[in-house]
Amino acid sequence: MKHTTHIFENAELSARAVADLILEKANAKKQQSQYFNIAVSGGSTPKFLFSLLAEEDYRTLIPWESIRFFWVDERCVEPTHPESNFGMTYDALLQFAFVPAENIFRMKGEDIPDNEADRYKNLLRSKLPAKNGFPVFDLILLGLGDDGHTASIFPDNLLLLDSEKTVDVATHPVSGQKRITLTGKTINNADEIVFLINGVNKAKIIADIINQTPEAKKYPANYVHNAAGQCSFYLDKEAVIF
Ligand code: 6PG
Repeated sequence: MKHTTHIFENAELSARAVADLILEKANAKKQQSQYFNIAVSGGSTPKFLFSLLAEEDYRTLIPWESIRFFWVDERCVEPTHPESNFGMTYDALLQFAFVPAENIFRMKGEDIPDNEADRYKNLLRSKLPAKNGFPVFDLILLGLGDDGHTASIFPDNLLLLDSEKTVDVATHPVSGQKRITLTGKTINNADEIVFLINGVNKAKIIADIINQTPEAKKYPANYVHNAAGQCSFYLDKEAVIF
């Protein structure tokens, strides 16, 4: 399983590289009069990226009307809750960028989890092209948890990696918080997958995955790789010990 790694001096430069990738891919789709369908993760790492995209030099260049925002996962809370992934994205980016409301497809964490997983599955089926029976995103932006989780696929529920469901309900192993999450097969069906990961506390997990050590098998992130081979790690150098 091959991962492409891009290593940067610091977290700002790794985020800027992902911002440049989004700009490039969104413009390419606009040229084809198509939407750029991106699914974004939550957590602290993408928050800086979103703030960067909201800054003048990106905000004025990105063809927001050609981008459709979806979510990789969402905590089962109100969108105004401090733990909401949508809320974080709105605060950092969507309140500033000119993304038309009809291009924003949040997971409704406030609704009954199983019902929302089903609704979101149907939404993806109606909005996205399909391949292998699963929706195809142009880009899925992932993070990596300190336990090797990605999306809301945690080490104690690797079954979500092979689920035939497109979207499912997960439970955080420590807090018990319910989550809505894309499943492994949906994630791996994307045209391109980017992990944006910074910091020394994830370096060992990344090294295990890159080197395919026996340890790597317990990390959900280890099983993310799309058939097209377009699965990249964008890393600051603190995250690199491989
Ligand atoms: C979430 C995210 C999750 C995140 C990792 C990394 O809902 O929490 O989707 O998968 O990407 O936990 O989070 P940090 O970027 O905060 O380290």
